[in-house]
Amino acid sequence: MCGIIAYTGHRPAVPVLIEGLKSLEYRGYDSAGLAFVHMNRLHLFRASGKLEALEAKLDSGHVLHATSGIGHTRWATHGLPNEVNAHPHLDINAHIALVHNGIIENFQELKTMLVDCGCIFRSETDTEVLVCLVSQGVKKTGSVREAISWALNLVEGSYAFALISRDHPGTIWAARHASPLILGHGTGENFVASDIPAFLPFTREVIFLEDNELVEMNSEKWAVFEVGTLKPVSKSIQTVSWDVQAARKGGYKHFMLKEIFEQPQVIRNCLAGRIERRTGNVLLPEVANLSVPKRLHIIACGTSYHAGLWTKYLMESFARIPVDVEIASEFRYKPLVPEKDKVYLTISQSGETADTLAALSLIKEQGFPVLGLCNVAGSSIARESDHVILTQAGPEISVASTKAMCSQLVLTFLLSLYWARHKNLLDPQIVDRAVNSFDALPDILDQKLPAMSETAASLCRIYSSARSFFFLGRGLYYPLALEGALKLKEISYIHAEGYAAGELKHGPIALIDPDFPTLAIALADPLFRKIKSNLKEIQARKGRIIALTQEGSGLTVDNEWVIPQTWGPLNTFFVLPALQLFAYETAVYLGKDVDQPRNLAKSVTVE
Ligand code: F6R
Repeated sequence: MCGIIAYTGHRPAVPVLIEGLKSLEYRGYDSAGLAFVHMNRLHLFRASGKLEALEAKLDSGHVLHATSGIGHTRWATHGLPNEVNAHPHLDINAHIALVHNGIIENFQELKTMLVDCGCIFRSETDTEVLVCLVSQGVKKTGSVREAISWALNLVEGSYAFALISRDHPGTIWAARHASPLILGHGTGENFVASDIPAFLPFTREVIFLEDNELVEMNSEKWAVFEVGTLKPVSKSIQTVSWDVQAARKGGYKHFMLKEIFEQPQVIRNCLAGRIERRTGNVLLPEVANLSVPKRLHIIACGTSYHAGLWTKYLMESFARIPVDVEIASEFRYKPLVPEKDKVYLTISQSGETADTLAALSLIKEQGFPVLGLCNVAGSSIARESDHVILTQAGPEISVASTKAMCSQLVLTFLLSLYWARHKNLLDPQIVDRAVNSFDALPDILDQKLPAMSETAASLCRIYSSARSFFFLGRGLYYPLALEGALKLKEISYIHAEGYAAGELKHGPIALIDPDFPTLAIALADPLFRKIKSNLKEIQARKGRIIALTQEGSGLTVDNEWVIPQTWGPLNTFFVLPALQLFAYETAVYLGKDVDQPRNLAKSVTVE
């Protein structure tokens, strides 16, 4: 989410920044901006909308004089995607300009403190707090480097930022914590950016910055310091071999693979600022004015609908709220039965899906509250819902949705805990386990995804000649079986059906033969013995089975795919990428166009 770039060197900076922003646009594109120092003054250009809107604002004259500057392309988190909220942000005296990617979690607290010190805020962003804080630090310490270090000690949350000062033309400062930032080392020029493609046309020599590192650079040299102590940190330069085109996908062959691999970070982003450590309370201010529903009605399409089905299990077991889940295109043509204290939840990655949007309008016409769970800030669903939770998955480019579903599941899981707590149903031990397991999850996933990808690649060689596939699961994993089948059919064009494993014997088992394989989700949970029996029934009909399972399952199937184990429902976050990778590797093996599958579009804005 959000792309940042900074340049200092011998070239006119603005074209370099614009080119960099073009390759970072996948990270967000609701507004863009840049700033540079010229004639002892900070110059700022910002525009809402795509990068072209910013380019149109840059008059070719004096913008070419600057040889250093910072740029930003935004994926709104705090505040609407308009020009006032666009980056860079300036301090009140226009001495400092800053671009930021991440979320300052304690921004409200810091803002109150800064207002007391006389700071004036112009935007709704958390970022402005950071620039004001650094400006206060400069007043205190007289040094930008020390000011940044001082400010960062007060900040909680995630950030990658770059900063310029009117008083030090040609120098750039940047730092990171839990958001990506890479230093590009050139000859007589240096860069920092959220991703390597932003400076790849100029240099392949990179320095990967770590959390709590601060870089100070000009055209000739750069140095890295530890935030807090300001001790110099020695860093090594690495040479990347990517070509510019491939790197647009961040080194991944397809956007889909990249997005699958982004899921650990998506989980981190979705959790940021959502759990109060001291009390274990879930923080969802977006629904603070919504009373706990007596009944929840979820409406969505495709993958988002599967996320809704999964939510039903969680919501009913934690919060004891009965849940109906409906496909939007069905819902919109049925009579709407009024029910007191019912809340409607629409789930949509794009926020523009026509059927979901039409359902939303119908519900609003009847005067029911609508909560929207949506990935795109400023989209129709985000604008028109009474309450909105943004899912923080960042821009999803691949047509087959992957990381968006991951983000939807994290957020609805938190919503279940939130309402359970409001109904006094929450066992503190459950909260502890959920919080601890969630904290550990992204790192484990980061570590395990490469091996999972290899397993998927070897399994697809065995099964890619199948004409049809069953995906089976029970309970919480039934919606994931549906999702596994959807992913396989949409990108590999192999017919696949997701079924509740216990339902197979009511008809579909007639299809089983040696050429109709099954991928079964058989985890170590209370339903394991039930699904084991279902698998025996398939084997009795000579059906081949891949079992997605955990260590020590004791299953005797054709292929056992052992995935890591965590606490209860969070095992979902291992199952989901395994299914996505299986579909992805099969499609690649069969030579299909993974990112742009036939007949599909990313955002279904027609009925
Ligand atoms: C499948 C997929 C679609 C979308 C569906 C809803 O990979 O991407 O099934 O999930 O079109 O889209 P959103 O979530 O944007 O409403």
